[in-house]
Amino acid sequence: MKPLMALSLLALSCAFASQALAQPEFDQVEKGRYLATVGDCAACHTADPAKPFAGGIAIKTPFGTLVGANITPDTATGIGNWTYDDFRRAMSEGIGHDGKRLYGAMPFTAYTKVTDEDNRAIWAYLQTLQPINNPVETNQLPFPFSVRTSLMVWNWMNFDKGVYQPDMTKSAEWNRGAYLVQGLGHCGTCHTPKNILGGDKNDLFLQGAEVENWWAPNITANSHEGVGRWTIQEIKDYLRTGVNRYDIASGPMAEEVKHSSHAWSDADLQAVAVYLKSLGKTEGKGPEPLPADNPQMVTGKAIYFDRCSACHTSSGKGEKNIFPQLASSPLINAREPVSLMRVVLAGSRGVDTDSRPTAPAMPSFAATMTDQQIADVLTYIRNSWDNAAPAVSASDVQAMREKLQE
Ligand code: HEC
Ligand code: HEC
Ligand code: HEC
Repeated sequence: MKPLMALSLLALSCAFASQALAQPEFDQVEKGRYLATVGDCAACHTADPAKPFAGGIAIKTPFGTLVGANITPDTATGIGNWTYDDFRRAMSEGIGHDGKRLYGAMPFTAYTKVTDEDNRAIWAYLQTLQPINNPVETNQLPFPFSVRTSLMVWNWMNFDKGVYQPDMTKSAEWNRGAYLVQGLGHCGTCHTPKNILGGDKNDLFLQGAEVENWWAPNITANSHEGVGRWTIQEIKDYLRTGVNRYDIASGPMAEEVKHSSHAWSDADLQAVAVYLKSLGKTEGKGPEPLPADNPQMVTGKAIYFDRCSACHTSSGKGEKNIFPQLASSPLINAREPVSLMRVVLAGSRGVDTDSRPTAPAMPSFAATMTDQQIADVLTYIRNSWDNAAPAVSASDVQAMREKLQE
C-alpha cells in the first residue's frame, strides 16, 4: 500500500524516526500507524493525549467497568516484554501474555479478521511508541465477572476465531469494505445487537443496537431504518466529516469520526460504503404511520412548531450541514428512540473535525419540557414527513431522564 497523503503529513512530525529506519521498515510503521487509526485503538487505550496508548478511560459494560491496557513498549507496565506472536494472539484469539484471557471489551471478536500482514504492521508501529510507565488495572469488574476463566465459556459461545476469508464472487472493493467493517473498523461493536452475554447476534449484523444510552442505528441497506436511501457519496461524507444531507454524527459516532474514520483513505471509505449498501438490501417497511388526529400527534405538532421548527424547519428538512434533517431519516425511524430522547433531554453538539471546526448545537430541553411533552413531540416527528415508527411514551422518557442523571 502506498503511504497516504495524510500519513505523509504525519510522517513529517517523525522525520527523526524516518532517518533511523530503513525504507521498508518505515513504510511498514506508517502502514501500522494508519491501521491503528482505522482500528481506533486510541479510543480505548489513550486517556491522556499527552500519554498516547498508555492506558485508556473506563469502558462501562453491562457487567461492570474495564479499562484499556497500557500498550506502549514499557516493560514494567506496558507490552514491552511481548513478542509479535503474543500480540497476534491478543488480536486474533483474545489471549494476552502468559495465556491471560481478554474480555470482549477489547474487540478481538472483530480483530480476529485482521491478516497477519496487517497485524505485523500495527505491531511495528506500536514498537516505535514512547514507552510510558503507567500501571493500569484493566479488570474492574465485580465478582463473578472478574474471574477470567469464565471467559473460556464466553468465547466458546460467542467467538468465531479466524482471519477474514474473501468472497470470490464479489469485487475486490467489496471485499476490502467487508474486511474493514467486520475487522479493524469493528463497526459491529456498536451497531450489532448483543445477546444476554454481551456477544454479537451475528444474524442481526449491523442492524442497530443501544450503546451507552445512544442508539447506534441500523447501517445496512434497509431503506427505512438503514442507509438504503443514502448514496455512496453521502455515506462517505458522513464518515469523513460527520455530516451529510441527512444527519450529523453525535455521541460515540462523533468520537469515531473524529478519531478514526475522518482519516481513512478515500478508497477505504468507498469500499466501506459499497459493502454497507450491499447488506440486507430490502425495502425496509416500517409500521403504518400514526394518523394526524392521534392525540399525541396533535399535541406533538403544536410543540414542534413552538419549540423545534425554528431550527429543524416546518417541513422537517433542516438546514444542510447545520440543523439535521428529521424528514425521511433512518435515525428518526429507529426501532428504539433512545438517541432521540437523549438528544432532546441532554442536548448535543455535532462532531467537529478539521474540515468543519465549529459544530452547531442542539439545546437541552430537560428543564423546560415534561416527559409527556417530549414523548408527544418525538411521536410527532417519528410519524411525519415520510417517517413511521412506534409512539414514544412518557414513561420511556422518564426512564431515560433517570439514566442520564446517574
Ligand atoms: C472498544 C475498546 C478497545 C479498542 C477499540 C481497542 N482495545 Fe485493546 N483492550 C481494550 C481493553 C478493555 C483491554 C483490557 C482487556 C482485559 O484486560 O481483559 C484491552 C487490551 C489490549 C491488549 C492486551 C494488553 C495486556 O496487557 O493484556 C492489547 C495488546 C490491545 N488491547 C491492543 C489493541 C490494539 C492494537 C487496538 C487497535 C487495533 C485495540 N487494542 C483497540 C479495549 C479496546
Ligand atoms: C463506539 C460506537 C460506534 C462505533 C465503533 C461505530 N459507530 Fe457508527 N454510530 C454510532 C452511533 C451511536 C450512531 C448514531 C449517531 C447519532 O445519533 O448522531 C452511529 C451512526 C452511524 C451512521 C449514521 C447512520 C444514520 O442513520 O444516521 C453510520 C453510516 C455509521 N454509524 C457507520 C459506522 C461505520 C461504518 C463504523 C465502523 C467503521 C461505525 N459506524 C462504528 C456508534 C458507533
Ligand atoms: C437552536 C436550534 C435547535 C432547536 C430549537 C432544536 N434543535 Fe434539534 N438539533 C439541533 C442541532 C444543531 C442538532 C445536531 C446536534 C448533533 O448532531 O449533535 C440537532 C439534533 C436533533 C436530533 C438528532 C438528529 C440527528 O440526526 O442526529 C433530534 C431528534 C432533534 N434535534 C430534535 C429536536 C426537537 C424535537 C426539538 C424541539 C423540542 C429540537 N430538536 C429543537 C438544533 C436545534
